[in-house]
Amino acid sequence: MALNFAIAPAVEGTNSPPIPKAQAWARSYLSGSPSLPLLDLSQGVPRDAPHPAVLSSLADASSDPSSARYGPILGEPTLREAVAEEIRVQYGLQGHAPNGNGHGEDPKPTLTAENVGITTGCNMAFLTLLMALCPPGSSVLLPSQHTSTTRCVSPSNGKSVRMIVLITPNNPTGSVMPPKVIREWYHLAREFGVALVLDETYRDFVEGKGGQRGKPHDLFGLEDWGSTLVSLGSFSKGYRIPGHRLGSIIAAPALLKHITTICDCMQICAPRPPQIALGPLLPTLRPDLLSSSSALSSRRHLFHKTIGSVPGWSVASSGGFFAPVWEGLKGGEQLQEDRWLRFAVANVDDEVVVQLGPRLRRMNELMGMIDD
Ligand SMILES: Cc1ncc(COP(=O)(O)O)c(C=O)c1O
Repeated sequence: MALNFAIAPAVEGTNSPPIPKAQAWARSYLSGSPSLPLLDLSQGVPRDAPHPAVLSSLADASSDPSSARYGPILGEPTLREAVAEEIRVQYGLQGHAPNGNGHGEDPKPTLTAENVGITTGCNMAFLTLLMALCPPGSSVLLPSQHTSTTRCVSPSNGKSVRMIVLITPNNPTGSVMPPKVIREWYHLAREFGVALVLDETYRDFVEGKGGQRGKPHDLFGLEDWGSTLVSLGSFSKGYRIPGHRLGSIIAAPALLKHITTICDCMQICAPRPPQIALGPLLPTLRPDLLSSSSALSSRRHLFHKTIGSVPGWSVASSGGFFAPVWEGLKGGEQLQEDRWLRFAVANVDDEVVVQLGPRLRRMNELMGMIDD
């Protein structure tokens, strides 16, 4: 049925969501009774179920009638405290409690619950930030991993840039920006009086030394980090609860005050049962985060090995949940226009990655991509 009213042009001009398209391809492939199984590496979602303790606390919290009420706009105090402590631990900040009880050894931690807002997923955190910082006509600088700060003499370049956004580890490229580069962007943002926004949805999957989780950057250690930095996070990947919709925004209270106004008009509060369930559990889930991160790291290595064995294909970068692949063969006209394929390696087991090698060789043959 045709609509008797207009859709906003910006919405009409935006591509429809890609994942449902990929899911439709999968359904159509399966409906043809294929001889080979479907290898679905399309979506960056965790493969495993949430930790059993999370599932059981979620059940308890959801069945408590009080969790059906509206909660505090910026999130449950226990969860905000717990997130602040997790950040202090991961980023090696002063004031983190070695026993994880949330009562810091330093009376003045540089990052506290006052810096944490809980949102309905990281996407909502980003949207509220856009609304808070970017009036109509302004723009956002989204540097790629290869953009150098020295080439961006002014992030404004004639336009009214309000924020520089870095996604690290990145979706879709998987690239992980080193702390030194993130710091350069921080200084540039500070110099030009714009916010540096880090989307750290995949922060739990930064590899550190000796099999430990890595420290993504050292900016939270700066005394006045909140004057320039905003960090967005997600519970979807590390804690494997994408359907429960929880994210976070870490910023100066002076900014969170405005985020509160926007959240009150949009989400009112993030879903309460997962907040109530996770708050007390976060410190106990650190070993689980570490083991998911190491399993993913070994899967990425397996992926590199597998792709490296197929003529003409190479992995461009990898990190977090992703590893895009470059198809560099002659021929293959159908792939000429878009020579990059994004592979999500988190939602499959190692066996699927191994099967990818023969599948890409077959694809080379079928699409005439054999280099002659
Ligand atoms: C970089 C990035 N940011 C945000 C999100 C969405 O996170 P959430 O589920 O917390 O909204 C995703 C999901 O894939 C992502 O890749």
